[in-house]
Amino acid sequence: MTIIAPSILSADFADLKNEILRLNDAQADMIHLDIMDGHFVPNLTFGPAVVKALRPYTNLPFDVHLMVDNPELLISEFAKAGADIITVHAEAYPHLDKVLSEIRKLGCKAGISLNPSTPEDILEYIMDKLDLILVMSVNPGFGGQKFIPSQLEKISRIKKRIGERQIILEVDGGINALTAAEAVAAGADALVAGTAVFEGGDYAKNIAALRQN
Ligand code: DX5
Ligand code: ZN
Repeated sequence: MTIIAPSILSADFADLKNEILRLNDAQADMIHLDIMDGHFVPNLTFGPAVVKALRPYTNLPFDVHLMVDNPELLISEFAKAGADIITVHAEAYPHLDKVLSEIRKLGCKAGISLNPSTPEDILEYIMDKLDLILVMSVNPGFGGQKFIPSQLEKISRIKKRIGERQIILEVDGGINALTAAEAVAAGADALVAGTAVFEGGDYAKNIAALRQN
C-alpha cells in the first residue's frame, strides 16, 4: 500500500494541534513537516520548537523535510524534537555522506531530497547511507504548485537503482489523484500531499483517494 504523508504546510497554522489529531484519525501514515529557512528556499515555516510541541499528539512517524542551508547545524535539534526521518537537500550541502551518517547516529532515518533539476547520479556513492529518497516534483518552497512531469522518469530510474535495498522512494509536490497514480506507476512508495489532503476538509476521504494499491 502506498504510504501517504500529509504535509502540514497546507494545515491551519492557528490550529496545528487539532490538525495533527485529525490527520491521525484520517489514516495518514506519516506526518510530513516542511522546514524552510528563507535562504535555501524563498519561504519560511517553523522550527524544532513547533515539531516538539506537536510530538505528543500522534504516534505517527514525523517525516522532517529540511529545505535549509547548512542542515548539519539543525539535525540534532530536530532529532531531539521527535523527528523519525530527517531529509536534507542534495543541493544544500556538500558533505552529504557525513550528514547522512550523523542523522543515523542521532537515531533517525536518513533521507536525501533532489530538486527537479538535480540528476539522480548524485545518489551513486551514498546509497548505503540512505533510508529514504525524496524526489521533488515541484520546485520547493510553496504548496499548491503543478507536478513537473519530467520527474516521472527520474522516479523510475531511482526505483531501479534502489533495487532490493530497504529505501523508501517518496515524491513531494503537486500530488493529486491523477499524479499520485502516475508517481506510483513510476515506482513511488510514499506520496507527500498538502493541498490534496486539506482541500474541502474531509481528510480521510482525501487520503483514501490518493492511496494506490
Ligand atoms: C514544497 C513542500 C511540499 C508541499 C507540497 O516545498 O516540500 O511538501 O507542502 O504541497 P502540495 O501537495 O500542495 O504540492
Ligand atoms: Zn516537503
